[in-house]
Amino acid sequence: MTLTLTTAGESHGPALVAILVGLPAGLVLDRDAIDTDLKRRQQGYGRSPRQRLEQDRVEVLAGLRHGRTLGTPLTLVVRNRDHENWAWGMSPWPPEGEPVGKGTKPATLPRPGHADLAGTLKFGLADTRDALERASARQTAVAVAAGAVAKALLAAIDVQVESSVVTEELERKIDQARGERDTVGGVVEVRAHAVPPGLGSYATKEERLDARLAAALLGIQAVKGVEIGEGFALAELRGSQAHDEIFRGEGGFYRETNRAGGIEAGVSNGEAIVVRAAMKPLPTLMRPLQSANIDTGEPGEALVERSDVAAVEALAVVAEAAVAFELARAAREKFGGDALADFVGAWRAYLERIPWRRTR
Ligand SMILES: Cc1cc2nc3c(=O)[nH]c(=O)nc-3n(C[C@H](O)[C@H](O)[C@H](O)COP(=O)(O)O)c2cc1C
Repeated sequence: MTLTLTTAGESHGPALVAILVGLPAGLVLDRDAIDTDLKRRQQGYGRSPRQRLEQDRVEVLAGLRHGRTLGTPLTLVVRNRDHENWAWGMSPWPPEGEPVGKGTKPATLPRPGHADLAGTLKFGLADTRDALERASARQTAVAVAAGAVAKALLAAIDVQVESSVVTEELERKIDQARGERDTVGGVVEVRAHAVPPGLGSYATKEERLDARLAAALLGIQAVKGVEIGEGFALAELRGSQAHDEIFRGEGGFYRETNRAGGIEAGVSNGEAIVVRAAMKPLPTLMRPLQSANIDTGEPGEALVERSDVAAVEALAVVAEAAVAFELARAAREKFGGDALADFVGAWRAYLERIPWRRTR
């Protein structure tokens, strides 16, 4: 049994869609909890005015009846309210009538750091919009909705996922960057508590939980670095300082330190999972960088459009969703079950078998 997620949708198209396959039947979903995560993703210092416009809400097209999953593909939709300003420019079918609104003219000056040039060359496009619309992080809205569903599944086995921003005077940096029409990045941390030992495995890279979490985080737009536990700092330590000694007391095995970030040999070890992701400065600059026209090769300034100065706080929510989804997938592989009760029952039986002292 596994869990898969497929998303679709362009930034200014009619809607974003997520299909989750592999959820057990009988999981109760809370619409407010999903919408709260969607709202959290839209907040944060340095965001663009688009976030005020969108006010994302989840809709469900399939897989749910009266708030309970049916064990069939769950289909989530988040509409793009901004689409009405792009109805001609982003019409799925050849548009009728005179060009009106945004996106009516081809965008030909690719932004360094975005999908514009590589996507245009790869797919043979004449308008960088055909690449950038999907590459845009607007897609993360529906990924966050899927992550909220994953968190509901994890909550059934007592696992909690939370995120924070590693701030180093972030607001001051954002204010300064905004004044200079520039952008900034930053670092976020995700922690998962009460993850039982034994999620993931060591036999192949496809099974390793650390590799899967890194791929999930690097799969998010603008994430350029990932650390598991103490990550890069471990490279500077001696082995005697780096590893988490093993103790056994009431309840079972435990550690007093967690430099490994809760994963050893690609397997969760029962301590909190701790991962960090580094976000690069966003590539759309109000004072644009040098570019070259995709048709003529003429030099010019890169595309400028409404954009965030920073999206680090939003990234924290998106990263939390990505980690939750990957942990839920690993938990589905380990505990299986068609009904939620089977899944939870398998988890309980496993906890009875293993001597594990659970820490929060
Ligand atoms: C939550 C979030 C919001 C983002 N907002 C913007 C934005 O407003 N402007 C922008 O240029 N890039 C933004 N990005 C980053 C781009 O989507 C990303 O840099 C681009 O797709 C190129 O991909 P890469 O950075 O992974 O190479 C955002 C990323 C995230 C995770």
